[in-house]
Amino acid sequence: TAGPTREPIDPVRYITNKSSGKMGYAIARAAQLRGARVLLISGPTALEAPAGVEMVRVESTKDLLDALLPAAEQADIVVQAAAPADYRVAEVAPQKIKKQDGEPFVLTLTENPDVAKAVGENKRENQVLVGFAAETQAVRANATRKLDKKHLDFIVANDVTKPGAGFDVDTNIAAFLDHDGIEELPLMTKDALAHRILDRALAVLRAKQAR
Ligand code: PMT
Repeated sequence: TAGPTREPIDPVRYITNKSSGKMGYAIARAAQLRGARVLLISGPTALEAPAGVEMVRVESTKDLLDALLPAAEQADIVVQAAAPADYRVAEVAPQKIKKQDGEPFVLTLTENPDVAKAVGENKRENQVLVGFAAETQAVRANATRKLDKKHLDFIVANDVTKPGAGFDVDTNIAAFLDHDGIEELPLMTKDALAHRILDRALAVLRAKQAR
């Protein structure tokens, strides 16, 4: 998965985040180059669809869940680099909301489904689930919690406050985290990181298949 999701406020406004899709598209391209059959489920981005990759475009976190759950049933490896909105607007206005003339404007948000958790709850034997963790503090502790909660085989943690890492840049600084420990990686292009992620995911897959 790749990119942000959009949660509508009214017919002309939405809530979103800074994800460009670059990380997820790099993973899809790398997998396609290695001969995998790839399905890329993408939120709204300005990026071109990678050649040879089947694409499904989604808007909201709920749309992402609906597209990913059935697709994940067929997948040997699921890598979730998308940045789905954790909240959506409780009541989407049917008409454009008017300015409040100096009054504060309050939006009530309600929790979105956790897509990776839902995929994790339906995890098949011999399936490899890779998640990301976009953190701004306590990277290791927060990422470890996500590893368990979402039934992930490993997590790619990125401190999105570091220059050259995270949202809307061509490079990233990541650490692989699982129950055996943490492997810190240096700054590299998102294309290079994509291959490192696939190397590790394939090693996990082969180890499971050999059991
Ligand atoms: O798109 P780019 O501009 O290239 O930026 C890349 C990135 C910073 C978006 C990417 O490297 C990254 O960190 N993606 C995960 C962003 C995120 O949502 O992190 P999180 O820590 O909130 O979520 C943890 C995991 O759960 C992620 O795999 C996420 O896809 C998933 N999730 C999160 C929320 C939610 N409601 N459902 C989910 O499935």
